[in-house]
Amino acid sequence: MFQQKTYIERRKVLKEKVGSGLILLFGNDESSMNYTDNTYHFRQDSTFLYYFGIQHPGLTAIIDIDNDRDIIFGNDYTIDDIVWMGLQPTIRERAEKCGVKNVQPANKLADYLKETKQSVHFLPLYRPGNKIKLHELIGILHKEVATKFSVELVKAVVSQREFKSDEEIIEINKAVNISVDMHVAAIKFAKPGMTEAQVTAEIHKIAIAAGGNISFPIIATINGQTLHNHYHGNTIKEGDLFLIDAGYESPMCYAGDLSSTIPVGKKFSPEQKEIYQLTLDSHQAAVDALQLGQPFKNAHVAAAKTIFEGMKSLGFTKGTTDNAFEAGAHALFFPCGTGHMMGLDVHDMEDLGEVWVGYDGQPKSTQFGLKSLRLAKPLQPGHVFTIEPGIYFIPELIDLWHSQNKFNDFINWEKVNSYRDFGGIRNEEDFVMTENGAKLLGKSKPKTVEEVEALR
Ligand code: GLY
Ligand code: MN
Repeated sequence: MFQQKTYIERRKVLKEKVGSGLILLFGNDESSMNYTDNTYHFRQDSTFLYYFGIQHPGLTAIIDIDNDRDIIFGNDYTIDDIVWMGLQPTIRERAEKCGVKNVQPANKLADYLKETKQSVHFLPLYRPGNKIKLHELIGILHKEVATKFSVELVKAVVSQREFKSDEEIIEINKAVNISVDMHVAAIKFAKPGMTEAQVTAEIHKIAIAAGGNISFPIIATINGQTLHNHYHGNTIKEGDLFLIDAGYESPMCYAGDLSSTIPVGKKFSPEQKEIYQLTLDSHQAAVDALQLGQPFKNAHVAAAKTIFEGMKSLGFTKGTTDNAFEAGAHALFFPCGTGHMMGLDVHDMEDLGEVWVGYDGQPKSTQFGLKSLRLAKPLQPGHVFTIEPGIYFIPELIDLWHSQNKFNDFINWEKVNSYRDFGGIRNEEDFVMTENGAKLLGKSKPKTVEEVEALR
């Protein structure tokens, strides 16, 4: 945890921003896998962590703005719990660490809410258990949560969490450094004849040995054209491309998020090298477009246009790049966004809504490809985000658009078809915006053709 004063200050600012009423913040409970006591790895809710720092299940907090009161509701372990789980700090001891003196048993929360006439602010909820609790406490049905959450509260939380403090940047840097270690280990380890699962285990091992865990399920696949491919059953062989997307989550729950693509053999083939170099060029174009006060969308436009232009010189595309981008033709190869915010969540605050986190409340595009851009708004000091353009040959998308005669003016279908089994390539790095421009977080990850091949 950070020092007590960090959490006290964060709650004070939150109260000022929201102004009046009562904020109801749910921590997470244990989540069962296949029977009650066999639970998934416990992960605290990130907003609860941000304001209270306590990594313990079964807690709910009230931040009563009108009465300037912070209360944590939760039950201490009984002797039965202690027999199975060992002695644990009391809720009061945990609460003290974040500067909360008022601690009450869980069943007092309903009384508190019954007695109040204050308006209750709550966030969009993603765990069914918390939606049930909300219903029991204040009668909001689970299907009403998405429309009745407090936009004021969401905006206030985003306006704090989006700006990472110096102490948070230190944590994120550590998380990215371990993430680099995970990637370097995998790049050195992967050999023809291994399964994807063996490489995945090597990556996960580094995260666990560092004392934390992974920030999202590891992607380690020869089918990198599937953007979030979590299947690890293939045997990797000479000639394959192998895409790794993996990050570390530190003990304080700050994320790293990196991607690498490597040849399973010792060297990229000439065709792989050409496309790989183009992804690096688009990556650099995105980085070059990062400017203080300017929209992150500029980085996406730069990456997408670089990909389309480069694909033209390789014979895959044709026509005017600007027109192709406007029409969305680049999305055949790059159907996702260039990056997203990162912090306590790997896609930071995605539960609060991308429109608030990445677009300052402005509507997102509905165009295929652009609609998957999670961050578009102007960059300010303290914003932490990823850069991760990629080139993907997705046979199903190629077949669909070709059969629809879509983008015939922009795509050379015969050439594209000849690469339909190529796979996908992505590199990903993490950055923080500063007064002096964007700065790479963590140590540098091997990325150039020469750097990657040297480790194979
Ligand atoms: N690292 C997974 C993603 O950014 O979607
Ligand atoms: Mn990412």
